[in-house]
Amino acid sequence: MLEGINVLLGVTGGIAIYKACDIVSGLKKVNANVDVIMTESATKMIRPGTFQALSQNAVITDTFETPRYWNIEHVSLAQKAHVLLVAPATANIIGKVANGIADDMLSTTIMASTAKVVFAPAMNTKMYENRIVQQNIKKLISLGYRFIEPASGRLACGDVGTGKLADVDKILEFVIDTVKPNRDFVGIKILVTAGPTRESIDPVRFISNHSTGKMGYSIADAASARGAEVILISGPTNLLPPVGVKLIKINTALEMYDMVMNNFKEQNVIIKSAAVADYRPETISARKIKKRGDNLNLTLVRNPDILSELGKLKENRILVGFAAESDNIIKNAKNKILKKNLDFIVANDITEEGAGFGTDTNIVTIIDRNNKIEKIEKTDKMDIAHLILDKVKQITEHRV
Ligand code: CTP
Repeated sequence: MLEGINVLLGVTGGIAIYKACDIVSGLKKVNANVDVIMTESATKMIRPGTFQALSQNAVITDTFETPRYWNIEHVSLAQKAHVLLVAPATANIIGKVANGIADDMLSTTIMASTAKVVFAPAMNTKMYENRIVQQNIKKLISLGYRFIEPASGRLACGDVGTGKLADVDKILEFVIDTVKPNRDFVGIKILVTAGPTRESIDPVRFISNHSTGKMGYSIADAASARGAEVILISGPTNLLPPVGVKLIKINTALEMYDMVMNNFKEQNVIIKSAAVADYRPETISARKIKKRGDNLNLTLVRNPDILSELGKLKENRILVGFAAESDNIIKNAKNKILKKNLDFIVANDITEEGAGFGTDTNIVTIIDRNNKIEKIEKTDKMDIAHLILDKVKQITEHRV
């Protein structure tokens, strides 16, 4: 499957290092060429000979046999690589790369490489959650480096939490996806909305909801990776914009409405994952509202239903809605397909654990106009994003 693909595996000295052996075997099984670079601490845990036998290539290390000034060969290895996978990736290597430090073979090679770099972190939960590590990860993601999220569970140190090296199968799948991206959305224009809206009450307060924007950002990211031209219209979130996506930031439902209406005409596909406030305060007080009495009554007025408006104007564009429900999910979602003239709807039960706002995972049911119902069990929002795009693709192909 990966014939002709050069994978450069950077192995650092994490306790999960033994799993790096399975990664090399897995990559060899799909016929990739694998070169391994080990950091000095990695060589103290597993001998290079193991990786040499598994990869059938000489292993590069920082031991005394290696020339102090790394020769051109290593730069050419960096250039030859289609993907550079660092697994396990310690806080140390992540920190070094995030801060431009190149002081050993692996960090030098990463710096000299123009290949896609994928980190599979593995470390103690507290280390992983440390804000410095998280900031380094965010910085690297914003620069186009990719991360395979660690799993949760019992760690080598006895703690229970996030920080276990992701499953070897998941890592292999990620690497395969990275080097063999499905570019099935080239030439397709997609508009995605994401996040909450904020409806001001006065200069300090607003009405909003718990949406973090993760689902919409994942869709925009996945669509861009598959070659689509993506516009992301987003309410306030803490997320970094996906690489290659045009981001338009808004605050209120009315601003989202204007931006969607200004941009929808050129689009082939519109995916409305934003959690738009249905109501806004009738008036926004110019001054801070002071407390008086036991009750405060706010009069709210309806916001336009952006999705319904698009439903009227959609013509042959593909229109996808979301339905966050706590009761009668399927029935309510089916009603929304008809009412809003959608091609399909992605419904989720926000009361289920691991679904809805703020989580990395979601549990959704995709329902289309023909009442075909597909339940997707709990999985990463990125996986769901790809499944939503697969459904879009199916509909497009069906029409031709
Ligand atoms: N939506 C929208 N504009 C609004 C409200 C919702 O475009 N003013 C879109 C959302 O982006 C989502 C879909 O409509 O794709 C469904 O949102 P949801 O809040 O679940 O449903 P509503 O239609 O608002 O119905 P209800 O609140 O009664 O469940």
